[in-house]
Amino acid sequence: MRITDSILYVGVNDHDIDLFEGQYPMHDGISYNSYLILDEKTALMDSVDAAKTQEWLTNVEKALNGRTPDYLIVQHLEPDHGGSLLAVCEKYPEMKLVMSAKALGMLPQFGFGALAARAAAVKENDTLSLGGHTLRFMMAPMVHWPEVMTTYEESEKVFFSADAFGKFGALDEDDGEPWVNEAREYYINIVGKYGGPVQTLLKKASALKINVICPLHGPVLNENLGYYLDKYNTWSTYAPEENGVLIAFGSLHGNTGKAARALAEMLKEKGEKVEVCDLSRDHMSEAVADAFRFDKLVLASPTYDGGIFPFVETFISHLKAKAYQKRKVGFIENGSWAPMAAKQMKAMLEGCKELAFCDTVVTVKSTLNGQSEAQLQALAQELLRE
Ligand code: FEO
Repeated sequence: MRITDSILYVGVNDHDIDLFEGQYPMHDGISYNSYLILDEKTALMDSVDAAKTQEWLTNVEKALNGRTPDYLIVQHLEPDHGGSLLAVCEKYPEMKLVMSAKALGMLPQFGFGALAARAAAVKENDTLSLGGHTLRFMMAPMVHWPEVMTTYEESEKVFFSADAFGKFGALDEDDGEPWVNEAREYYINIVGKYGGPVQTLLKKASALKINVICPLHGPVLNENLGYYLDKYNTWSTYAPEENGVLIAFGSLHGNTGKAARALAEMLKEKGEKVEVCDLSRDHMSEAVADAFRFDKLVLASPTYDGGIFPFVETFISHLKAKAYQKRKVGFIENGSWAPMAAKQMKAMLEGCKELAFCDTVVTVKSTLNGQSEAQLQALAQELLRE
C-alpha cells in the first residue's frame, strides 16, 4: 500500500490474537503498522509484534525492492511494536536504530541490550535527513509509555503518531463500522489514563501542517483530519462526547437487569439516547468506552456477599484507572435482605474528579414493585433534567 509516492505501508494484520494486552477481546483483529520511506536513504518506521515477524520482514523486503534499510526509527518499544527488533537487526546488520533516550535506556529490559551499540538517541526537534525527506522527532512521553516519540516528515507533511490515532480492528476487516467506535474503545482503554500527555502532543501537532496521519494501529488518516484531532481533544480532556446515558448492570437472576432495562425504556420514551450493558456478558472494554462517550452513567448492582456484584466492582475499577470524571452518576441497588451496593459503589467513585451523583437512589428488594418503580421514574426525571 502506498501512502505517498515514496512512503509505503509495510505493516501486518493479526487475526490470530484473542486478547490485546492480555485483556481486550479482539473481535476483528488488529493491525501493527509499519512504514517504509524511500529516498537517498531509506527509513523503516517501527517493527511489529513477534507473532508476525516473518510476514512483516517479507513485506519490508518486497517494498525495499533490492535496497536495504539505512535506519529503523523506533517510536515505541512496547512488544506489539518492538517485538521484531532483533529479527530485523539480524537481517540488516548495517541498519542504524534511532529512538528516544528513554527507549535507549529501556532496550536491555526487553533483551535488546546488544542493539544499543548501533542505536542513536534523539531529542525534541532533532532532525534526520534522508535526502528529500526530513524527519523531525517530537517526544510524546506517556502516549502511551514513557519512551514514546512521534515523527513528522517535513516535505510531505506526514505525521507518524505512534499509538495516538490508532484503533482496534485489522485493516482487511472493513465491515463499514465508523472509525470512531473502535478508535474510542482503543483510546479510552489503552491511552485513556494519559489525557495530559495527549494534550501536550496535540498542542505540538497543532503547530504543524499535517496532510497524513500514520498511526501504529488502524487506518492511515488522510482526509478530514480536523475530525480526528477534535475527537482526540474531547477524549483527552475527559469531556463527554455526547449527551446520553450508559446503564451498566450486573444481575444474578435477572431482576436487577429488569430494573436497568425498565429505566432505559423510561429514558428512551423521553427521547434520551441510552445504551444498556450487561457487565457479566458484554465486553468490559466497550462498556468503559461508552461510559466515557456519554455524559451520564447509571450503575445497577445486586448486593453480593455484603458488597458490590463482582463484575460491577471490576467495571468501576476500570473507570477509576482511566481517570473517569466530569459526569453525572446514578445508582440502582438490589438486595433481598440487606441492600447496600449503592453506598459502596458511590464510595468507590468518591475520589473521581467532578462527578455529580443523582439524589435518587433506586433500591430494589428482590423484584421491582410500585415503590422501586416510582424511584426509577424519579431517577429518570433527574437524569433528564441534565
Ligand atoms: Fe500499540 Fe502502546 O502499543
